[in-house]
Amino acid sequence: MKNAIENIRSLAHKALEQAASPKEIDEIRIRFLGKKGEITAILKQMGSLSAEERPKIGQLANEVRAHIEKEIEGRIATLKKAELDRRLLAEKIDVTLPGSMQPIGHQHPLSQVLGEVQDIFLGMGFSVAEGPEVETDYYNFEALNLPKNHPARDTQDTFYISENILLRTQTSPVQIRVMEKQQPPIRVIAPGRVYRSDAVDATHSPVFHQIEGLVVDKGVTMADLKGTLETFVKQLYGSESVVRFRPHHFPFTEPSAEMDIMCFECHGKGCSLCKKEGWIEILGCGMVHPKVLQNVGLDPEVYSGFAFGIGLERIVMRRYNIKDLRLFYENDIRFLEQF
Ligand code: PHE
Repeated sequence: MKNAIENIRSLAHKALEQAASPKEIDEIRIRFLGKKGEITAILKQMGSLSAEERPKIGQLANEVRAHIEKEIEGRIATLKKAELDRRLLAEKIDVTLPGSMQPIGHQHPLSQVLGEVQDIFLGMGFSVAEGPEVETDYYNFEALNLPKNHPARDTQDTFYISENILLRTQTSPVQIRVMEKQQPPIRVIAPGRVYRSDAVDATHSPVFHQIEGLVVDKGVTMADLKGTLETFVKQLYGSESVVRFRPHHFPFTEPSAEMDIMCFECHGKGCSLCKKEGWIEILGCGMVHPKVLQNVGLDPEVYSGFAFGIGLERIVMRRYNIKDLRLFYENDIRFLEQF
């Protein structure tokens, strides 16, 4: 019986040495130490022993049981440590490696230049206003002194949604919306998308962007208009820029003008960029028409103002010498990445 017990000790030892998982160790524990395990089986046979041998064998069996228990504990600790080492090795992070750059996008050239324009006007005390792209005939035309059947409506080929609802052809309706809500002094710009039913080519698109400007107060004059717009151009294009105002006609301003900037390429001599003109038109402007002021309940004898409308695509094309408007909307990243 003594041999049998010693045998159990060495069998358990060998089994434990080979055990590679907690589950296997558990199986070994049950096999040797469990209620139906090998040690218990031996102890059950103790009845056949003499009174002299019994305590000795009992002691030995207890010793072996304690020994196996200890060995099991040791083995579990070893396995745990091996598992931890393996994980630490696998999850090791080399903090000295250079980071990998994630490609990130950037602002569209139209948004970039719009941001600059806004900054320039914010610096002059303007704030930014907004209006809907789906407008009513009243705001887009009537209130701006373009009654139904006015011939100037023809120059803005309009997308009508219904008889009185349309896609705004200009940002000027925001002038009316602002003046209805706000009392002078008013100083706002209103950038946004506008729509005209034009066929797409290098200089036309049915969707494009304008930046409207409106100043209304007591005693605003044409000199304020010229000073503000010249300052704007010099900040956007550089202090050496030269501008000129040409008389023009808009139904909602009187007098009206278009502002040209001297061609940077040929300095007024005429080249392919300015189509031999020497000058490039960048905005329409004028003194707010008395009828427009009346339409929003302002007394033209008390208040006066000026307004302007800048073509955003135009000024971005001038800025970067882009020859085809379609490039802005195709979203070819080979183009966009250059800005
Ligand atoms: N709304 C005009 C256009 O689209 C531009 C403009 C705005 C002219 C404000 C004068 C004053 O052509």
